Amino acid sequence: MNHIISPLDLSVEELDKLLDLANDIERNPEKYAHACEGKRLASLFYEPSTRTRLSFEAAMMNLGGKVLGFSDEGSSSATKGESVSDTIRVVSCYADIAAIRHPKEGAALVASMASQIPVINAGDGGHQHPTQTLTDLLTIRSLKGRLDNLTIGLCGDLKFGRTVHSLIDALARYENVTFILISPEELRVPGYIRDGVLQKENVSYREVVRLEDALAELDLLYMTRVQKERFFNEDDYIRMKDFYILDEPKMKLAGPDMLVLHPLPRVNEIAVEVDKDPRAAYFKQAQYGVYVRMALILTLLEIA
Ligand code: CP
Repeated sequence: MNHIISPLDLSVEELDKLLDLANDIERNPEKYAHACEGKRLASLFYEPSTRTRLSFEAAMMNLGGKVLGFSDEGSSSATKGESVSDTIRVVSCYADIAAIRHPKEGAALVASMASQIPVINAGDGGHQHPTQTLTDLLTIRSLKGRLDNLTIGLCGDLKFGRTVHSLIDALARYENVTFILISPEELRVPGYIRDGVLQKENVSYREVVRLEDALAELDLLYMTRVQKERFFNEDDYIRMKDFYILDEPKMKLAGPDMLVLHPLPRVNEIAVEVDKDPRAAYFKQAQYGVYVRMALILTLLEIA
């Protein structure tokens, strides 16, 4: 059984093939419109989501399949004490593939161990978000033409931002990638990423606090929201939440080809005035999320 719990569940070759398929879906959507007829996606969201849930559901519908599930833990039997393992065993009787988002790190892995159907991690706590990473990689490759030879600034909440952890895991495997990790001291990237990935894999990186100190050298700026829901203390969140605001004056410090990505949702960290800048690619990125999730569903169901 194939599951996607981490971006590393796909080799670089499998990843390239998946991104090629996503690009073909983008160009020829009609070719795939009936590919999943008779198949069902279970959409199990124990935590709020707009993009991930709706793009998974749109992806399955675009493939001619059907969707069932819940968008709120409160409307599931989790409220009666049912475990994730028992839930997925039951859902395996109703669906062909499942996407699961859960506030606890490791929940998708636990689900995959009890599942009879492929499980996709749609975000587990502050840990990983592999399908956001697939979205990010498709966006970067489509708009930049490459996934190697890049200097990438990751800015904001690098401690709790699971999209950042997954993106570093995935891009660390490409040649000549340099990360500039831009965060306040309290929100630095966790040790298991810094020591266990960047240092272990000998990836070039440096940590800075000021966004202004990095902008001129970036091919790509990946902004992130401060993850309010992961803070134990409201005062700490309030102190951190507006630490970075990307606005027009800061965009003037960046090169003409620097892409701005953001997994969204945005709060204050990118001023709305930046949206009209041709370098702002975060809404295109959300569109790429549908193509790549279509490609992933087809791949895991062994239809493509
Ligand atoms: N990027 C992302 O995961 O957004 P949602 O929380 O809306 O799914």
